[in-house]
Amino acid sequence: MAEHRYDPVTGQYTTGHSWDGIEELYTPLPRWWVITLVISFIVAIIYAALYPGWPTTRFAFTGLLGWTSAGQLAEEQAEARSEQAHWRNQIAAKSVAEIEQSDELRTFAITGGRALFNQNCAACHGIGAGGQQGQFPSLIDDDWLWGGKIDDVYQTIAHGIRNEDPESRQSEMPAFAEMLSPEEIAAVAEYVATLSDASKADSRKALTGAEVFANNCAGCHGENGEGMREMGAPRLADQIWLYGDGKDAVARQVAHPRMGMMPAWKPRLGDDAVKMLAVYVHSLGGGEK
Ligand code: HEC
Ligand code: HEC
Repeated sequence: MAEHRYDPVTGQYTTGHSWDGIEELYTPLPRWWVITLVISFIVAIIYAALYPGWPTTRFAFTGLLGWTSAGQLAEEQAEARSEQAHWRNQIAAKSVAEIEQSDELRTFAITGGRALFNQNCAACHGIGAGGQQGQFPSLIDDDWLWGGKIDDVYQTIAHGIRNEDPESRQSEMPAFAEMLSPEEIAAVAEYVATLSDASKADSRKALTGAEVFANNCAGCHGENGEGMREMGAPRLADQIWLYGDGKDAVARQVAHPRMGMMPAWKPRLGDDAVKMLAVYVHSLGGGEK
């Protein structure tokens, strides 16, 4: 190790380290850097004292402020709830029809209803309520199983369809596999497939399926397949199909009907939530006056 030596070029002393004559200078760290480092240490110590951290095997230090992220969330939620209380109270006090008449309440209900819908309904009816072909009805068209007036929609959502709720929508299409022969089922399916085609209005009467339909189906689906909302029986004379179009899909449904079910939402979400959902669904495009 060489001696500390004064280097006249830089005005610094050397450390004494030398490699093949190359010597290391003893340049101090820049002052701004040292100050920043020290401040960072101080801030880190204060932060560690105020906020939770430092786990041990038995407990974790909770911090002098007692702050938790769960607590902050609860506080923000309470704040949001108290801001909403004004609107929520009005929703609770008014009927769905009255809510729709007030622009402000309607806007609040649609916004809240959309959020509730995405959480609770989208799994079946799809984000945006477009439905899923063959399983869950679209709620944005004007083809309603149980009715598209605001009170009908409210009733359907509140009490659901084919469940144990005493006010649930109820109806059952019989399983015709036990009542009709396979030939009759095929014939009636062929007949149903012509209902949505206006050009076949006269010729379809001659089909053997016409009689089967009149005797077994018209009571619920209407003489010309126009549907019946009291029974939740879909309109068959249109291009909108819950369980698929075509003779095969119709024959399957006739032999072994699916009978879609929906839970009652009022016991789960509360009446205010159901009102907001009803206003939201009613606003989607198919809502009837
Ligand atoms: C488990 C799946 C499922 C969920 C979740 C669900 N639904 Fe349904 N919903 C159905 C089925 C199935 C039907 C059709 C039943 C039938 O065949 O009559 C239906 C029908 C409806 C209807 C009647 C449509 C018509 O044409 O008359 C409305 C309105 C409705 N749902 C709204 C909602 C709302 C709002 C929610 C969320 C709170 C929701 N649904 C959640 C399965 C579901
Ligand atoms: C007691 C009333 C009732 C009778 C009788 C009845 N249906 Fe239905 N039908 C329904 C109901 C309710 C639905 C809806 C089922 C559901 O939502 O799961 C339905 C659904 C259907 C569908 C599915 C429509 C779609 O959009 O996918 C077809 C097709 C159909 N019925 C044909 C018939 C035919 C054909 C007959 C006679 C052989 C018949 N139904 C008799 C009540 C009835």
